[in-house]
Amino acid sequence: MAATKRVVLITGSATGIGAETAKGFAKEGASLCITGLPSQKDELAEVAKVCKENGSPHVLEVAADLRKQEDMYLLMNETIKTFGQLDVLVNNAGITVNGDLDQYTSEDFDKIFSVNVKAPTYLTKLAKPHLSKTKGNIVNMCSVVRECHIKNCLLYGMAKASLAYLTKSTAADFAENGIRCNAVSPGCIYGTDILKGILSDEFKQQYFDSCITKLRGRLATKSDVSDLIRFLASDKATMITGEIITIDGGKVLSL
Ligand SMILES: NC(=O)c1ccc[n+]([C@@H]2O[C@H](COP(=O)([O-])OP(=O)(O)OC[C@H]3O[C@@H](n4cnc5c(N)ncnc54)[C@H](O)[C@@H]3O)[C@@H](O)[C@H]2O)c1
Repeated sequence: MAATKRVVLITGSATGIGAETAKGFAKEGASLCITGLPSQKDELAEVAKVCKENGSPHVLEVAADLRKQEDMYLLMNETIKTFGQLDVLVNNAGITVNGDLDQYTSEDFDKIFSVNVKAPTYLTKLAKPHLSKTKGNIVNMCSVVRECHIKNCLLYGMAKASLAYLTKSTAADFAENGIRCNAVSPGCIYGTDILKGILSDEFKQQYFDSCITKLRGRLATKSDVSDLIRFLASDKATMITGEIITIDGGKVLSL
């Protein structure tokens, strides 16, 4: 599977880690379907421009709200209609809320699970027949929160733990179809939008400072995570499936 001939669909690719990953796949010559909320059309166009400059032969932009089943169906349909195949699905889109058991609302619960769990599950189902044909693979976006307690992260942590289970189940169930499924599990990544409107700038800075790793004296970056996603999606990882790889410079080891 030469990178130049690959078709890669990345959710949440208008910003943050998803946008960085799209730009990385573009450098490898992959054709891309990038997608974000209907309100993110300008950001998507900007990412598409960079991806084309980076060498992607074709970039499809699809506005889709992953809380809606019909939008996910449209996303997969447009990808297949445009490229005729799918090689890699990156389930990257995600949201968080701040709060523990006493604070969360039923709406928070539905929103978090809808974007972080239901959407990747449904997209995995939609992608299966296409990935079977290409012997392709899936990379899911977990978080270290799935395995360690971080205050005020209850729903987010529960959702990411579910995604870890989806990763292992999919790897086991799809192996006979030649499809691999892995996940990346980052610690704190600087410079993305996920905490916008969730934490104050001051608290966010304190949080980031507390996450700096002894290993490198910095946080892991979007680019570090993009490199790992692209490694797991590549032929170098042909015998790797069902793995959830932590990328946090060893931070959770010392929690
Ligand atoms: N930034 C971190 O510290 C960190 C750490 C671990 C894991 N992650 C995970 O990385 C992934 C990417 O997050 P990020 O940090 O780049 O933040 P981000 O906010 O920049 O990216 C998330 C993207 O998901 C999209 N999205 C959210 N709801 C959507 C919906 N209903 N429909 C379509 N798209 C939707 C957003 O619009 C956004 O573009 C998330 O799954 C997040 O949980 C981030």
